[in-house]
Amino acid sequence: MTVTETSPTSKHARYVLTPWSAQGGLDLPSIERAKGVYLYDDAGKRYLDLASGLVAANLGHGNPAVLRAIAEQAARAAYVAPSLFVGARADLAEQLSELSPWPEGCRTFFTTGGGEANEDATKMARAITGRTKILTAYRSFHGSAPGAGTLTGESRRWPNEPATLPGVVRFFAPYPYRSPFNTTDPAIECERALEHLELVLTYENPQSVAALLIEPIVGTNGVVVYPDGYLQGLRKIASRHGIVLIFDEVMTGFGRTGYSFASCRFGVVPDAMTFAKGVTGAYVPLGGVMLRESLAKHFDTRPLGCGHTYSGHPVAMAAASAAIRVYQDERLFERARTIEGWLQEGLSELAERIPEIGDVRGVGAFFSLEFVKDRSTREPIVAWQGPQPGPLPALLGALRRHGVCTFGRFNVMMVAPPLIVTREELDEGFAALERAMKETFHDA
Ligand SMILES: Cc1ncc(COP(=O)(O)O)c(C=O)c1O
Repeated sequence: MTVTETSPTSKHARYVLTPWSAQGGLDLPSIERAKGVYLYDDAGKRYLDLASGLVAANLGHGNPAVLRAIAEQAARAAYVAPSLFVGARADLAEQLSELSPWPEGCRTFFTTGGGEANEDATKMARAITGRTKILTAYRSFHGSAPGAGTLTGESRRWPNEPATLPGVVRFFAPYPYRSPFNTTDPAIECERALEHLELVLTYENPQSVAALLIEPIVGTNGVVVYPDGYLQGLRKIASRHGIVLIFDEVMTGFGRTGYSFASCRFGVVPDAMTFAKGVTGAYVPLGGVMLRESLAKHFDTRPLGCGHTYSGHPVAMAAASAAIRVYQDERLFERARTIEGWLQEGLSELAERIPEIGDVRGVGAFFSLEFVKDRSTREPIVAWQGPQPGPLPALLGALRRHGVCTFGRFNVMMVAPPLIVTREELDEGFAALERAMKETFHDA
């Protein structure tokens, strides 16, 4: 028997399991409407969407061209099995090939999200190389289901342990603010990180490694931008050992960094890229693996061992094609480079008044703040991956009271607005950040 719940919030708490949370005592708004950079709850309160949801709603909300494309495709053919051909699927795959960093182009396998794409990309690399091991970085996030969760290099992997995906080996990548390689010099950090990876490979047998999977900029674990030369160094190591280099562009793709993909921003060409989130501007779920043409040929004579009911769902294809046209027509990738200047300036000014901000970092419209107890020692405001959540949940709650939604983990918080955000809207966000931080860190 069920008790009828009346308000959307109490009904949600009663019937929905919310991710990554103990379910008791959740106090969250019920969002009923969204337009532009704003979300509106059931009481009509407005929130600035300062993290584009989960760094996904790159186009903002309610874009008429994307909504029209979804409705038209749903009316024309809402679902076609992936074992048949569909024009909308071919069109999107062609657009992706044109956006890709490969002069030879690429072919795309579509999935429903990012984690699934990472699992499929590693399966493809294993099939192509005939090898089994997969290298991933600590402090990475590649998804949460058992396979992608095992590829992940932080505490959201732990519920999957013991690992269900054998052969995953992890290494430390650079983290200039808290170097795992005992240096404050980014060039030395880069050199030591590459030497460390070579050493790991020596012990693992490079001939057994199928793929190296990495976020070209660390995403939810604090927007860590690698020092110059690191991704280039990975490219060289992968080529030398015949390892398939996969960039997880689930968060960095579709304009976040000011370019179609981070690989284009940094001028480093991987062998495959996974994507999701921004490909449709999050209007409908979609992910995929882009495989450079020279590797995709492998599957001309051998079956591709991947498939999902919703692979290449026509409505998702139409949404993504329309989203890419909007990115291009409104020059939103370039716009993210303008937003980069606004974020760098606004967040650095905020750091002058909030001593708990230890580091402001990011590129494009993709930034994070890292909080410390003491700037000189860089002691984190709460232990990373420790048992205590620290002050972040209270800070996120204070921000919501001041009309801003974002997210974070332990001592890092994301600032990644939709690429349509204006300077005035961001200023409103900075003012709310300052008020919420003062209340949480200073008045408590
Ligand atoms: C870099 C990265 N890879 C993979 C994923 C997982 O994507 P999904 O949640 O669509 O499975 C995420 C999600 O945040 C991500 O940030």
